[in-house]
Amino acid sequence: MQTAEIRRRFLEHFAERGHTVVPSASLVSPDPSLLFTVAGMVPFIPYLTGREPAPFPRAASVQKCVRTLDIEEVGKTTRHGTFFQMNGNFSFGDYFKEGAIQHAWDLVTGKTDEGGLGFDPETIWATVYLDDDEAADAWKRIAGLPDERIQRRGRKDNYWHTGQPGPGGPCSEIYVDRGPEHGRDGGPVVDEERFLEIWNLVFMQYELDDVRSKEDFRIVGDLPKKNIDTGMGLERVAYLLQGVDNLYEIDEVAPVLRRAAELAGVTYGRGHDDDVRLRVVADHVRSGLMLIGDGVTPGNEGRGYILRRLLRRAVRSMKLLGVDEATLPELLPVSRDAMKASYPELETDFARISAVAYAEEEAFRRTLTSGTALFDTAVGEARKAGAATLSGAQAFSLHDTYGFPIDVTLEMAAEQGVTVDEAGFRALMQEQRDRARADARAKKTGAIDVAAYRELLAAHGPTDWRAYTTLRTDSRVLGVVSGDEDGPGVAAAGEITRVVLDRTPFYAESGGQVADAGLLSWDGGRAEVLDVQRPVKGLVAHQVRVLEGELRTGAALVAEVDREWRLSACQAHSGTHVVHAALRQVLGPQALQSGSYNRPGYLRLDFAWQGALTQQQRTDIEDVANAAVRADHTVTANYMTLPEAQAIGALALFGETYGEKVRVVEIGGPWSRELCGGTHVRGSAQIGTIALTGESSVGSGARRVEAVVGLEGFRYLARERDLVRQLADLLKTPADGLAERVSGMLARLRDVDRELADLRAQQTLAAAGSLAAAAHDVGGVAVVTGSPAGLAGGDLRSLALDVRGRLPGDRPSVVLLVSESGGKVALVAALNPAAQEAGLSASDVLRAAAAPVGGRGGGKPDVAQGGGTDPSGIPAALEAGEQAVATATRR
Ligand code: ALA
Repeated sequence: MQTAEIRRRFLEHFAERGHTVVPSASLVSPDPSLLFTVAGMVPFIPYLTGREPAPFPRAASVQKCVRTLDIEEVGKTTRHGTFFQMNGNFSFGDYFKEGAIQHAWDLVTGKTDEGGLGFDPETIWATVYLDDDEAADAWKRIAGLPDERIQRRGRKDNYWHTGQPGPGGPCSEIYVDRGPEHGRDGGPVVDEERFLEIWNLVFMQYELDDVRSKEDFRIVGDLPKKNIDTGMGLERVAYLLQGVDNLYEIDEVAPVLRRAAELAGVTYGRGHDDDVRLRVVADHVRSGLMLIGDGVTPGNEGRGYILRRLLRRAVRSMKLLGVDEATLPELLPVSRDAMKASYPELETDFARISAVAYAEEEAFRRTLTSGTALFDTAVGEARKAGAATLSGAQAFSLHDTYGFPIDVTLEMAAEQGVTVDEAGFRALMQEQRDRARADARAKKTGAIDVAAYRELLAAHGPTDWRAYTTLRTDSRVLGVVSGDEDGPGVAAAGEITRVVLDRTPFYAESGGQVADAGLLSWDGGRAEVLDVQRPVKGLVAHQVRVLEGELRTGAALVAEVDREWRLSACQAHSGTHVVHAALRQVLGPQALQSGSYNRPGYLRLDFAWQGALTQQQRTDIEDVANAAVRADHTVTANYMTLPEAQAIGALALFGETYGEKVRVVEIGGPWSRELCGGTHVRGSAQIGTIALTGESSVGSGARRVEAVVGLEGFRYLARERDLVRQLADLLKTPADGLAERVSGMLARLRDVDRELADLRAQQTLAAAGSLAAAAHDVGGVAVVTGSPAGLAGGDLRSLALDVRGRLPGDRPSVVLLVSESGGKVALVAALNPAAQEAGLSASDVLRAAAAPVGGRGGGKPDVAQGGGTDPSGIPAALEAGEQAVATATRR
């Protein structure tokens, strides 16, 4: 049975039993604290906890999931895969244990010609939590399972939670006995290879806290309702029903593995090392495909880093298999074709997906060989020196210069039986990050030595930063950091300097939001705040211009943020979140923000997207954003802990400090939810107006939208309205008739242009006649000279040729026309074959004529053309041309 068919049967089974079928959510988890969607229940967490009312009592889904906790194990055994699909049915306070067991049993053992999966009831085993008699009884009653096929297990196996505080509960797992040839008797408690788990039914009824591991957590209370959350491993069921041995051999995965083996010229199933590599390739190519499909792009942090690591591991594995060419162009389409029955968007979006993947392979391939050589040398040297460790510097160089993710280096080292000084590596990474930040800041802070700030920090501790709570503080000057001759600690009127205060209400530029503006005032003086930065972590420095008096270390002063400025800044920053949410609603979750900038009145946001937005999309985005403004969603900021990343399948990532709290800004609860340290309005109505002003490309696969907000948004619209009014007045048309009026005018303009061209042609034609009639004899040559007005080069040339055609062909004739048009002079000389035979040349004539108009020109013996700059020389030019003819005929 094909995987897509199992999926279809699953959804149909539950749809027939009153479940709302919900499409898979994105792999990019809607929950900002999770990297990826790791289980079918993730999108339903708000309903399971009761935080939001469930819109349906029962639901079913097939959810795309990625777990990358075991990335190194992938391929070594056949058990692990990073991408998988979880079939799940959910009850939100509707049916409970009995219902869940009944539905599952019916599907698992239902006959295949009646829509079931057709497992033999005699092969089914179940496990229940230690004291869960209720579930055990249900298994006996509903499924008729004998006591010995119902096994009891503890928290490690039969309790489920997400790895972080939230819902959880005991569970019951369904196992299939694959037969004695696969292992020992005794059920799942004895052998989980022979007895294979296919479905986990979670009886989700408790609220958990202090979640430290699978077994170590605290039950803090009951959930408002008793819920059901189940997860059936689609890949597992597929390989059982397809009669193959493991997930690498099912219809959705095997084609990639086979193609990889073909490219490498090896046979799968022959050699352990090759098999591991082929499995790595098959798994990672599929995961890469699905992740890029959901909008992830390779990078050095977070989700992007995991994607990078997957793709680069796949590329390296192919290289180890002996394939030197780029391989993703061969493998990715195979994976797409294997997956598209369930995910048709992979086909329609393939141009974008493949461009991202191929570019990543190219980037890595450029350095893979030299990086591997460096690695081998380093290992050789380490061995010679009797050590078995690669230094942090070597690992760093592999990362920094050759693009080797540290995990790839760690794996390569493990393959060679050496270790890596990982702590050394991380220290160097940290240094590099600090340097980059300091560089960026130095650009802002005028490259002042950070040592001065470090000293202030050491002496006084971090700045008491009040930007979230107040616009005004009574403060004391801890240091005036000028770096100028006046000596430290003092700044006089007119000077620009940097000031560190013990306490400040000023927002320092970060997270795309510019710094606050405002004033410092003290007895006898005032200073205007120009910029605010954090030159070292924990310390806020104000760049100020002293307006009056003298600013001294130790002085007491009042620091006050400009109220209007801050309100506008809050509008712009909240507006950025609203536009981001609107983009993702209109375009889809893959339209993820990659960068942003906002200052009072203005915002811009870069996001992942291919191709320009249509006018309709722009209008829709603006509509969704302004509807959210009008809904006046409450804006809140809450601190929470980063989840125990490992427990939920995320990796220890660069740049994230576990244990620190993060700030989550919500606009209308789940409507918009982002990690953010910025300042925001209290309710979205305060944003006032959001007007999109532009949309453009910022590199491949990235677009930028710009918008004006608040009063600026209003002014922008008002300016446009004024413009429309002016145009309407000018055109004497009501505003809504403008477009029609203008397009009518443009059409008429085109007609007039055409008429004008016709007229000009007629005129030229007429001129040709009279010019030809005025031919005069110069030494036996019929010469026409003339200066028709207003003809540029092309028209003048046509006229000259026309005149030449009207002169008798049997005697030499020369035409020289010079015309002024738009302050410039055009010249054309044309002569007939008889004139050429007589030794005349058009380019000679032209050269002679060009000089008096300050010009040059050239051409062939029969037609020459040129231009000049001095119209006053036109008569002299005609004269000189004629003179040249006369001279030539005399020879
Ligand atoms: N949420 C449960 C799991 O992931 C069903 O196993």
